[in-house]
Amino acid sequence: MPIHIAVGTQWGDEGKGRVVDLLSADAALVCRYNGGDNAGHTVTVGTKTFKLHLIPSGIVHSHTIGILGSGMVINPLTLLSEMDTLKKSGIEISPRRLYISPLAHLITPAHRLLDQAQDAARGKGAIGTTGRGIGPAYIDKAARRGLRAGEILDPEAFRIRVKEHFREVDIQLQRMYEKEPLDIEAMTAEWVAEASKIAPYIQDYSQLLHDTLRSGDQVLAEGAQGSLLDLDFGTYPYVTSSCTTATGVFSGLGLGIMPVDRIIGITKAFQTRVGSGPFPTELSGEMAERLRGTGANPWDEFGTTTGRPRRVGWFDAVLLKYTVAINGVNELCITKMDILSGLPEIKICTSYQLNGMGYETLPVGLSAEQLAKARPVYETLPGWTEDLTGIRKWKDLPQNAQAYIHRLQELSGVQVSLVSVGPERDQIIHLD
Ligand code: GTP
Repeated sequence: MPIHIAVGTQWGDEGKGRVVDLLSADAALVCRYNGGDNAGHTVTVGTKTFKLHLIPSGIVHSHTIGILGSGMVINPLTLLSEMDTLKKSGIEISPRRLYISPLAHLITPAHRLLDQAQDAARGKGAIGTTGRGIGPAYIDKAARRGLRAGEILDPEAFRIRVKEHFREVDIQLQRMYEKEPLDIEAMTAEWVAEASKIAPYIQDYSQLLHDTLRSGDQVLAEGAQGSLLDLDFGTYPYVTSSCTTATGVFSGLGLGIMPVDRIIGITKAFQTRVGSGPFPTELSGEMAERLRGTGANPWDEFGTTTGRPRRVGWFDAVLLKYTVAINGVNELCITKMDILSGLPEIKICTSYQLNGMGYETLPVGLSAEQLAKARPVYETLPGWTEDLTGIRKWKDLPQNAQAYIHRLQELSGVQVSLVSVGPERDQIIHLD
């Protein structure tokens, strides 16, 4: 079946936006299947930069149809503002080309308040969530009391359910976090009126999805966050509340299990992480600042959604081996190779030493506390001085950059098919 899946193999921010944009050129449908507006995908086309939190990055191509799948949690307000921004940039946003699953869950302002109160109350043990209500919305879903997008289509019943939801969260906020009471009447009236504006886009996409697959046209599934933030297989509890791996595509879109052509693991040429949690190859000091950048460039390592400086470190091949396995990655795209230019030498972590044992991949079940104690064992490769941003052919890459890619390929056991050397659409090297 012509399904292609693009997933991040690290802790998110691998550059999925630019890669999905590239892959969308050949796709008929581009679908998000997990997460919410905690994602921040950046697409740069010429002088225009699009920052997408909910709408699939492929929407920037005029021939695609975007789907917000059932596995997502959607904040209607963020979605409306994103639609508006895209429309103003000349992108057609209409029910013809944007579908919201009636089964997707909704994020309300109460979820956001709860998210922020809960993480603040964790004190030193804070997860460092984006505070966007993702966790509480998924909790409501699992507790079978969530609000689903399809409910908007029955306005009176929806209003009653929303009011009830605000009332429940209000009690929780007051009792557990000593917050001031919410103005439930006003919040309900205001939020229901706004959220209901997405009604024309709430439509069943299953026929469209299956017809597209049957016709042989390509469907691209766009992962959000990274595999190491997966609720089950990530560095729990420092994870997000959804399935971020390729397997989430089937449940998150409502597809049967079917063969997938390509599972493209998007992998940054070094390691970054936002928020708390173990990070064995983390760097501090001058080298960290060098990799992070100052914030002057849009691609510097500061969160798209939160603006927080990201933690940075050397490439961790132990983690890549693991995420290749849990996703079934059959092809890699290495992003941000251009950032490594000018480093005299570059390190790759090839194994961990922990409790007197050596690990070449992450053992399932290793706790976050244990992983934080892992001592990375590095291999050092020579760097290169050349600027890579203008290079479009493999043969023109400096030998040491080629050797670095080859080594990542060897360590992961997966072919690298794309190397990104800048944020622009054409700053890409295709490998045969
Ligand atoms: P999440 O879904 O939130 O994890 O984000 P993401 O993986 O979609 O990351 P995003 O698209 O926001 O990429 C991060 C930044 O890196 C953006 O500013 C991109 O334009 C930029 N970027 C992507 N690839 C490259 C590259 O190869 N080189 C440079 N210099 N910048 C890049």
